[in-house]
Amino acid sequence: MKVTAFNGSARKDGNTAIMLNVALEELKKQGIETELYQLSGKQIHGCIACYKCMENKDQRCAVEKDVANECIEKMLASDGIILGSPTYFADISSEMKALIDRAGLVSRANGDMFKRKVGAAVVAARRGGCIHAFDSMNHFFLIGQMIIPGSNYWNMGFGLNKGDVEKDEEAIGTMKVLGENMGWLLKKINGSAS
Ligand SMILES: Cc1cc2nc3c(=O)[nH]c(=O)nc-3n(C[C@H](O)[C@H](O)[C@H](O)COP(=O)(O)O)c2cc1C
Repeated sequence: MKVTAFNGSARKDGNTAIMLNVALEELKKQGIETELYQLSGKQIHGCIACYKCMENKDQRCAVEKDVANECIEKMLASDGIILGSPTYFADISSEMKALIDRAGLVSRANGDMFKRKVGAAVVAARRGGCIHAFDSMNHFFLIGQMIIPGSNYWNMGFGLNKGDVEKDEEAIGTMKVLGENMGWLLKKINGSAS
C-alpha cells in the first residue's frame, strides 16, 4: 500500500511539509509506503477548460507541459492521497488549486478514477482562514467518491515562519492521529486491519 502527500506550498520544507511528514511517519510505522511530493519550484498551471480529457478518457490531462500528469500518475498509483496547503488569503495556494482542478476534471472524465481511495487534507496557517482552505481540499475528495478519515481535531497547524508549526503541539498530535487513522482505514479497506 502507498500514500502520496502533495505539498502545495510555494515554500519547500515549510510548515505544511512538516505536518505532512508527521502523518507520513505514522503511516510508515504501519508498514505503508509513503512519498512527499512538493510542488514548490515546479510548474503547474490551472485548467484551461479545453475539455479534451472528456473526449480522450485516457486518465491524463491533455496539457503535457507541466507536472500535472506526473501528479495524476502518482495519485493513480497510490491507495491514499493527502493534499497539504498553506493558507493564502483564507484559502489554498494557487499551486494546490491548479492541482485540484487538473486532477479533478481528469478524474471526472474517467468515471471518478480515484473512487474509494482514501483522502485527507492538511493545512498550515499563521492565524486565520484555514478551515476554508481545509474545506476547499475536502471538496476534491468528496466529489470524487473518495473516503476521508478524521483525526481528533481538524487537520490544521499554526505558524508563520518555517518550522514554527513544530511548537504547535496540538497540531503535531492531530497529524499523528490522522496518520494512525488513515493507516487503519487503508488496512480495513484492503482486508488486513484488526
Ligand atoms: C501569499 C500569502 C498569503 C497568506 N495568507 C494567510 C492567511 O490568509 N491566513 C493565515 O493565517 N496565514 C496566511 N499566510 C501565512 C502562511 O499560511 C503561513 O506562514 C504558513 O505557515 C505557511 O506554510 P508553509 O511554511 O508550508 O509555506 C499567508 C502567506 C502568504 C505567503
